[in-house]
Formats: sequence, structure tokens, C-alpha cells
Amino acid sequence: MAILALGVFSILLAHSSAQSAVAQPGDPITFARDVAPILQENCQACHRPGSIGPMSLMTYEEVRPWAHVIRLRVETRTMPPWHIDDAVGIAKFQNDVSLSDEEIDSIVRWIEGGMERGDPADLPKPIDWPDGRGWQRAQELGKPDLVIRSDPYTVRASGQDQWWSPVVETGLHESRYVRAIELKPSDPLGNRVTHHVMLFTLHDGRQELLTEWAMGKVGEVMPAETGRLIEAGSEIRWDIHYSPIGQEVPDDRVELALWFHPEGYEPEYRNALELFRAEPMDGRPRGAAIDIQPGEVRTVQGIHRLEQPVRIESFQPHMHLRGREMTLEVIYPDGRREILSRIDRFHHNWQISYRYAEEVMPLLPAGSRLVLTAVHDNSEQNPNNPDPSQWVGFGRRTVDEMAHAWIGITHLDQEGYERLLREREAKATSR
Ligand code: HEC
Repeated sequence: MAILALGVFSILLAHSSAQSAVAQPGDPITFARDVAPILQENCQACHRPGSIGPMSLMTYEEVRPWAHVIRLRVETRTMPPWHIDDAVGIAKFQNDVSLSDEEIDSIVRWIEGGMERGDPADLPKPIDWPDGRGWQRAQELGKPDLVIRSDPYTVRASGQDQWWSPVVETGLHESRYVRAIELKPSDPLGNRVTHHVMLFTLHDGRQELLTEWAMGKVGEVMPAETGRLIEAGSEIRWDIHYSPIGQEVPDDRVELALWFHPEGYEPEYRNALELFRAEPMDGRPRGAAIDIQPGEVRTVQGIHRLEQPVRIESFQPHMHLRGREMTLEVIYPDGRREILSRIDRFHHNWQISYRYAEEVMPLLPAGSRLVLTAVHDNSEQNPNNPDPSQWVGFGRRTVDEMAHAWIGITHLDQEGYERLLREREAKATSR
């Protein structure tokens, strides 16, 4: 199970059982006993030296000046980054970092109660965090089998966003199935300029998406019994989106780490990361339906019929600054409809892949339809909107819009579908 969880988050999960002493009713809430364990489990993966958060939240001294901002962020559920509407759809994820109501309540009561330090003996055992520059998955998976670097690129200090698309050899002499992928911008400046990366494999003139990475994401781990194929002699095409930060970043490189299944291993099924449009599939070119008037809140929808049975493994909405909501729904062949997930507080800084827990990954029969509905908010109610007086259309820049989702999917055959259903039922009854 451990290897299924996302890198940072699996570290969090691994420590979540280490509960410290529990407050008795009437006891004052203290940092050492009540707050430090919450921060350790849910925040420090990002809020520690060398990680992506803007400040470290490791000690009382570091946390105290931020207390009121922390309260605001946890009460509004804008931190930790997790934007699922938990009132609908699937509730169990592998990489859930959200706080429970009780945890939020403890933080708030600690602040209202005067932010007591408490007894240092109550502090949880510190976590031995991996070096910010190392591979986050190395703790669970060991050293990567292959590391590939993009060719160097100098990101200009200012101006428009920049794209860099070098093609790099893999050096692979035999075909291998990938079981885990991690991407790492350079440290420290690359972490600030690298917004988004698409990686394709090129082989015999064919191009296939290997993975998609964006700020806030570590990479991907394939579900059990699946793998993503890289054929012998393939090349990797990078598509890196850099955003200038007012300072030149010379010769930047992004690194890709791959962990393979053993040589000769053939997974039962090939797993893919596929783009599904949240736009009408009416023959018009991509983006034509994205036509957002100044101040307008606009909904677009795409419906996709599945010719084969599938298992849906992860859902990652993609929009830009005006993106507010995206819903993934299924219409079964018998007409029944079910919401699988809704993201209701989308924020473009966080391209989060919501990875379903294995036992609840939707298994959908052939003939089902996936319905993706996106809401863009170009009004002044949207705090991320740089200019509600502008018309917005489709495009690559962050001020343009998009509406699609990356969906982790395994295409099954009828036999595999029925077997997975049976196995799931057997597990459910044996519990
Ligand atoms: C996955 C990484 C990640 C996790 C987990 C995370 N943060 Fe953050 N946090 C960030 C990043 C990156 C920023 C800066 C961008 C932003 O403000 O959204 C940030 C910003 C913040 C800010 C605002 C700082 C400011 O300058 O105003 C606060 C407060 C905060 N985080 C608190 C927390 C707390 C408390 C937790 C845990 C309960 C947490 N964060 C978990 C990455 C993370």
C-alpha cells in the first residue's frame, strides 16, 4: 500500500498514526501537545527549509508570528491545498492532506486561548525529512532507475511566459514499464519559475503523453498491476512552461526520475493519463466554446462515451485564473447519473491530481459516459481574477483559459472489468 501514495503525502500518512497525548476536556490547548502534531502531519512537508512553502512551520518560534494568517487559511480551507467539495462524490483519496473539523478547531482554540507553548516533553518526535534537493520518493522506492535532465535554458528576467521543448534521449536499450515518476525543478530558483511540464515519449514517429507535472505536484505512482510503457530507443520530448520572476535564471534544467517495474515484467493493463475536454465535443476546434464576456460566470461541458470498460484512478482539473469549479460525473448505460468528484475552490497555483483510494476507484462499464463540467468566473467575486473587464478566450497563457482534466485511466476488457468487480465485492464482504 505504501508505494501507492504520493511521495510527500505518504510520508505524512506514515506518521499520522503517531498520536501524542490527548487533551482532556478543560485542559488548555498547547502548541507542544495539540498543534505541533497537526502541523507536522499536514504542513511541514511543504513548510520547512528547502521546500516549496514560503515559510517554515517547524518550531513554536516559527509558527507563532504566523498564527493569525494560519487561522485564516485553515478556517477558509485554503491551506493545506485541497479543493474537493467533500459534500459530494467519492470521499476516499490516497493523497488527502485536508484537515478534519477537529484539527481546525484545535488550531483555532489554541490561538484564542493565548497560544500556549506547553510542555516540550509533549512535542511529537521530529520527522527525519528528506533533503529538499533529493528525490521525495527515494525513501519508499529507493534510488530511481533512470534520471533524465532537460537541456539547459535561460529564463529571462521579465516579459511573457516562456516555453522550452527540447528532445532528449532516454538511452533505454530495452522496453520498460514505469511504476513511478517524479519531476524536480532546480533548487532554489527553478522551483519558482517552473510552472508546468508536459513530457512525451517519442518512438517511431509516435508521440505519447508520459506525464504531466505542475507546481505543487510531485509526480505519479501507477496503481497496482499497471504500468506505463517506454519503448527501447525512445526519446523524451519536454514541454516546459516557465514564468519569469524578475530575475534571470541561467541554464535552468528540470530533472525526471523514473522507477521501473522489474525487467521483463508485463503489467496486466497499461495505464494512461488522458486529456478529457470539459468542452462540447461538437466538431468545433478545441477552445471555441471558451468565450467568456467581462464579468461573466460561464459553464462549459464535455461528454465522452467510453467504448471499453475502464477504471478511473485520478482526476486533475486544469483551468487558469478564472477557473472556479469542475465536476466529473458519470452517466451509466442504464441512465443513472452519479457525481464522482467536484472541485469547488479551484486555484490555478495548485494543479492537484486527486488520487482515489484503490477500493473506491470507479469501475465503469462500456457505454458509460463521462461528463466534465467547468465553471469559469470572470466576475470581481473571483479573488484570482486579474481583470474582470477583459474578455477571455482559449489559450496557453495564464490570462487565457482552458477547460480540461487529466484523468488517470486504465482501459479494461470485459473479462478484466468483471474480475475487478468480483475482487472488489469479495474484499468488501470479507471486511
Ligand atoms: C503541498 C504543499 C503545502 C502544504 C501541505 C501546506 N502548505 Fe501552506 N503554503 C504552501 C505554498 C506553496 C504557499 C504559498 C502560496 C500560497 O499562498 O498559496 C503556502 C502558503 C501558506 C500560508 C500563507 C502565507 C502568506 O505569506 O500569507 C499559510 C498561513 C500557510 N501556507 C499555512 C499552512 C498550514 C497551516 C498548513 C498545514 C495545515 C499548510 N500551509 C500546508 C504550500 C503548502
